[in-house]
Amino acid sequence: MTTQKIAIASDHAGFELKQSLIEELRGLGYEPVDLGTDNAMTSVDYPDFGAAMAKTIAGGTCEKGVLICGTGIGISIAANRHSGVRAALCHDETSARLSREHNDANVLALGARLVGDVVAKECLKTFLATPFAGDRHMRRVAKLG
Ligand code: RB5
Repeated sequence: MTTQKIAIASDHAGFELKQSLIEELRGLGYEPVDLGTDNAMTSVDYPDFGAAMAKTIAGGTCEKGVLICGTGIGISIAANRHSGVRAALCHDETSARLSREHNDANVLALGARLVGDVVAKECLKTFLATPFAGDRHMRRVAKLG
């Protein structure tokens, strides 16, 4: 069985959490694909990382990804401007679970300045383990285009 690849990217504000989630992904048996950024010191622009995520998903390298910025707001807006991306900004396990069950979200967005390491890891685990519920939600997700 091949290891599932999970794309992960952040701006400078999300860098530390990204590194922590990369280790978590490895521990869970996934192969993280790190799209940057590579340090917390250099200020970078979150839309660039939303675009990199969209490209990686569109290219088929990864089906799912994780995006992190300070609040998760900018990077989720950026990613959702690209077709094929359904990025869900989650602050707890319940929103992470429902983003999969109801919205078939393929990108988990997190705000490093708003959620701690433990909550972020719970969101990640739940997001990756929860299947799409399909049924009535399928029609709605299809309308997202
Ligand atoms: C960077 O300072 C910050 O604006 C960014 O990480 C994010 O929170 C934007 O939505």
